[in-house]
Amino acid sequence: MRRVLTERLRTGDRIGRDIIGGPDAPALLKAGVRVSDSYRQSLRRSKITSVWINDSLSDGIEPLEVLGEATKQRATVAMRDAIREVSRSLVEGQTLSEETVLEMRDVAELICSDVSANVTSALALNDLANADGYTMKHSLAVTALGLSIGLRVMRRYGWIDDLGYRRFDEIDQRLLLLGVGLLLHDIGKLAVPPEILQKAGPLTADEWVAMRAHPMLGARILQQADISPLSRVVVRSHHERWDGSGYPAAKRGAGIHQFARIASVADVFDALTSDRPYRRAMPAYEAYDFIVGRSGRDFDPEVVEVFRSAVAPHPPGTGVVLSDGRCGIVKAVRPESVKRPIVRIVVDSTGSSIAGDEIDLSQLPGIEIVSNDFDPWVSDTPTAQCRVIERRLAPRTDPRTHTETPQTPAGL
Ligand SMILES: [Fe+2]
Repeated sequence: MRRVLTERLRTGDRIGRDIIGGPDAPALLKAGVRVSDSYRQSLRRSKITSVWINDSLSDGIEPLEVLGEATKQRATVAMRDAIREVSRSLVEGQTLSEETVLEMRDVAELICSDVSANVTSALALNDLANADGYTMKHSLAVTALGLSIGLRVMRRYGWIDDLGYRRFDEIDQRLLLLGVGLLLHDIGKLAVPPEILQKAGPLTADEWVAMRAHPMLGARILQQADISPLSRVVVRSHHERWDGSGYPAAKRGAGIHQFARIASVADVFDALTSDRPYRRAMPAYEAYDFIVGRSGRDFDPEVVEVFRSAVAPHPPGTGVVLSDGRCGIVKAVRPESVKRPIVRIVVDSTGSSIAGDEIDLSQLPGIEIVSNDFDPWVSDTPTAQCRVIERRLAPRTDPRTHTETPQTPAGL
């Protein structure tokens, strides 16, 4: 299977995985169906920007799966219900019910369990939610990524207790509390006017004030709920930055709770790699470099060190161009060398198709990935044609320049 942008789907391409439009909706397209014009239009209408297809070039290549289908389904429904309840409570002045809090804990436990089972593989944020709203998708992706990083951070560095001792016990219990906080981290955005959240242009100073209130609004909404302070700290402090440039309290360094330092990395990575009203999604490798480049500035160096091996900047199914002119599809990613995956070569340096040699870039230090925007097109004739989109790996761009204040990455 490989992932292609919806705009590049060709008539007759075979869908690789069910495409789900929402938690209760039937699949928009089932795995195995052939793409037609009307299907393409319906995907565009549903704002689905990329899909998995199955073709001979990518036969046997499987996406990295972090969450099982049952976890995705239950987590999506639970988040939808929590969002509805908080929306009601904003009008009626109530807080989250005990039942919803318990469901959040159960969902956090399920995600923890899936993430723990996959702790040896690098993570790609593929289709982590069967959801149609950004807040729901974002909450689940941040939870999966945050728990994946959190598990590794606590195993490697432990956690510091109230007396200042570094401890390595009670990690499972702490992960659950982290998970509940991650699920609810942006709940305060429900109290921010939608015209500000969805605004396509730059925010005014007043709109920024409203946007930046969401961590405290979220903490306030949860104040009366039966939720641990360790979960609430994620909600309140996930926009704090290591160098003190964040909000709401401009805390710095170890003064920011470890949970919030983990949440901020997961939050920024998912926000950058998602389509937003004011910009298109950034490729995973660019967002990966952005996070790594801001270690010690925006983010805790220990958390970034773990992130470097927890996330795949070129996930399986990505089309890549190599520095020697060959093109291929990423087949597998090893956690010990996530930037140098195993690639199935499908086009040689002269532009002719070849039959699927696989090379391990971790063993070939002279060869680099220069673009991850390779889009093969193979006709039904024996002569393959190849279209390489001229979008070379760009020097890292600063995503803040579009709509942001100097301190905060876009829309985060
Ligand atoms: Fe946020």
